[in-house]
Amino acid sequence: MSTDRRKFLKHLGTSVLLTSASLTSLAAKEENEVRILREQKRVSPNDKIRIATIGMGIMGFNDTKAALSVPGVELVGVCDLYKGRLDRSKEVYGKDLYTTNDYRNLLERKDIDAVIIATSDNWHSQIAIDAMHKGKAVYSEKPMVHLISQGLAEIQAQKDTKMVFQVGSQRVSSIAYRKAKEMYEAGAIGKINSIEASFNRQSALGAWQYTIPTDGNIQNVDWARFQSNAKVKHDFDQNRFFRWRNYREYGTGVAGDLFVHLLSGIHFITGSKGPERIYAIGDLTYWKDGRNVPDVMSAVIHYGDTKEHPAFQVTLRVNFISGEGDHGTTKIVGSEGVIDLGGEGESFTIRKNKMSVAPGIGGWDSLFTYTEAEQKALMDDYNKRFSPTDQETPHIPDITYRAPDDYNASNDHFANFMESVRTGKPVVEDAVFGFRAAAPCLACNDSYFQNKVIHWDAEHMKIVG
Ligand SMILES: NC(=O)c1ccc[n+]([C@@H]2O[C@H](COP(=O)([O-])OP(=O)(O)OC[C@H]3O[C@@H](n4cnc5c(N)ncnc54)[C@H](O)[C@@H]3O)[C@@H](O)[C@H]2O)c1
Repeated sequence: MSTDRRKFLKHLGTSVLLTSASLTSLAAKEENEVRILREQKRVSPNDKIRIATIGMGIMGFNDTKAALSVPGVELVGVCDLYKGRLDRSKEVYGKDLYTTNDYRNLLERKDIDAVIIATSDNWHSQIAIDAMHKGKAVYSEKPMVHLISQGLAEIQAQKDTKMVFQVGSQRVSSIAYRKAKEMYEAGAIGKINSIEASFNRQSALGAWQYTIPTDGNIQNVDWARFQSNAKVKHDFDQNRFFRWRNYREYGTGVAGDLFVHLLSGIHFITGSKGPERIYAIGDLTYWKDGRNVPDVMSAVIHYGDTKEHPAFQVTLRVNFISGEGDHGTTKIVGSEGVIDLGGEGESFTIRKNKMSVAPGIGGWDSLFTYTEAEQKALMDDYNKRFSPTDQETPHIPDITYRAPDDYNASNDHFANFMESVRTGKPVVEDAVFGFRAAAPCLACNDSYFQNKVIHWDAEHMKIVG
């Protein structure tokens, strides 16, 4: 921590609607606020919501747990393509849990109100559309779609069926992101001009080499169903099934998988509908295990001047073999400060830098290259034109906001979803938002694989040209 800046640590709490509060008064106000979280959990357990989870892998179990943290939610059944995960579901949730390897069996059941879709990316869209047409509310994991071409049909399905549909980018419900949005809107960093965001990792698990079970063979895996919607079929391969992220046929690479978290958070805070130009480069530098997606990828993305925000540039990077170790960041940079959300986004710091009124003279300047007499004349004139106050660089302390240690944004995201299921209130992350976050990420893949700039019409959600 720098010694010349005081640092305030704060607890995040109930959102306050800020209109035009000045930063000084905002900071003073915040200093007096120490709030207990969990403030927004307002769901009534009286109205039971019966759910089923489709895809009981890592996220299926995590999402189910988060969903069940909301009062009044019950798990009725699960679907998965690997027998071991159905058995594990019964171990965790009881032997009476309904299990199947065909999600359509779950959709036929009248006692299920909502489904969580936590399959590999290649199935999100089809299952979501089928589920909405069967009258189920849908919580779909990110990215909303596997292919850009699927987005508008899924949005249309939601419009036609009017079912509650929420995408699973939990940052959108995170207390830190909500507070950061509030501060951004209050003008905390001046006029936005750029954002840099990244995920750095340095481990086999971080690079998606997940553990494969000893019985993960063709007898216990419904391989035909897994790849039934793929254009090109492959012989059974444990890596392709248990480490599907490494293959474009089922996953969306680091862009669809991880950039989408970054853009979801960025769009949420800035209110943006999306960028207009996208360019990405990538390399497979280290994890040469048969994967057909890069392990280091960078994108440069331009957001135009719109009624939601001024023009700004975004640079995104994922590095799976980073000597920096596990480290992520999202820094939103404005003309007078930065909102630094770190990696997980459960705390953030606002650092402010504001220029002095006077432009400065001397130091790393051409002044000393002039004659003594000229220097003196220039200094005299400068001091006449600018008061000592004008010559001072304003000193503004950092402010850090931190969610409590046990905070879990996924629980809040599910609480928001369940509230929408119960009350019909609009979801926090609808299909349009989900697609507007996912599509530019998928366009990063298009840019990399086709080596070209992708032009995107964010308003109409279409590739241009
Ligand atoms: N929101 C987050 O922070 C977050 C974090 C991790 C993963 N995810 C998303 O969650 C999804 C799942 O990721 P994971 O790490 O849990 O993967 P995983 O491989 O651990 O689990 C995926 C499961 O889906 C099952 N499956 C695939 N196709 C299916 C189908 N047609 N019907 C039924 N089951 C099917 C597989 O059998 C597998 O068990 C991905 O889309 C990923 O992007 C989100």
